[in-house]
Amino acid sequence: MSEPQDRPLERTRLESADLGAAWERNAESWLAWARTPGHDSYWLFHRDLFLQLLPPPGRRTLDLGCGEGRLSRDLKALGHDVVGVDAAETLLAAGRTADPALQLHVADATTLPFGDASFDLVVAFMSLQDMEDLRGAVREAARVLERGGRFCLAIVHPFNSAGRFQGDEPTSHFVVEGSHLAESYYADSLVRGGLEMEFVSAHRPLEAYAEALADAGFLVERLREPSLPDHAIQRPRGRRWQRLPLFLHVRALKR
Ligand SMILES: C[S@@+](CC[C@H](N)C(=O)[O-])C[C@H]1O[C@@H](n2cnc3c(N)ncnc32)[C@H](O)[C@@H]1O
Repeated sequence: MSEPQDRPLERTRLESADLGAAWERNAESWLAWARTPGHDSYWLFHRDLFLQLLPPPGRRTLDLGCGEGRLSRDLKALGHDVVGVDAAETLLAAGRTADPALQLHVADATTLPFGDASFDLVVAFMSLQDMEDLRGAVREAARVLERGGRFCLAIVHPFNSAGRFQGDEPTSHFVVEGSHLAESYYADSLVRGGLEMEFVSAHRPLEAYAEALADAGFLVERLREPSLPDHAIQRPRGRRWQRLPLFLHVRALKR
């Protein structure tokens, strides 16, 4: 069977969405997307930037929304005692096959199967924008963290999810047609390198993340806005993402 032709990202705003069901539906596509060497931004630059945000390995690290476990495996190799949690059973099963020794739990981020203060580091890499109950997940991360522990997260930058570029030029206008301030759902669909993927996520304003962190008892220590580094530009239209942030990185301290 021939592979599908590449198709640039198309974004559709949705009235409603079942974020968890979307990950189970797209699990096979995600496994190919996430695991093809050099394909995803994770391998090109994003993992390395995110790792710079983390404290050194400590007592125990939770990978919240670990998916098929690529970051958990990398953290383990770096010396973290890692536990992964994800709601998508198909992804976790693939994670267990990749490393049967990794502790991976099927659970919702709002009801974690761990006692209070079980970890000194919780990471949520590109998962909070895909979770239905942001506040519940952040509260639960705070509960399972010890005092003085860190919560490190990466999300699609709210600037990115609020709008779209109007063209492929490095100087193309970026337009917000709806509201940055209102929460909404959207589906991004694309084919790249012959691999098809659909991402269904929630757009939330920056304030929603900052308030969820503050209300759960976190103090933001670092906030970074990664754009596309030169070495990761594979197509001319990638240059647009050197003017605006693709992702948002936050390191927060549990007080
Ligand atoms: C973009 S993927 C990222 C996966 C992984 N962190 C990685 O980078 O490979 C988002 C993940 O969040 C998970 N997720 C979404 N809602 C969740 C919830 N309520 N509880 C736990 N995991 C959830 C999805 O199943 C999916 O695996």
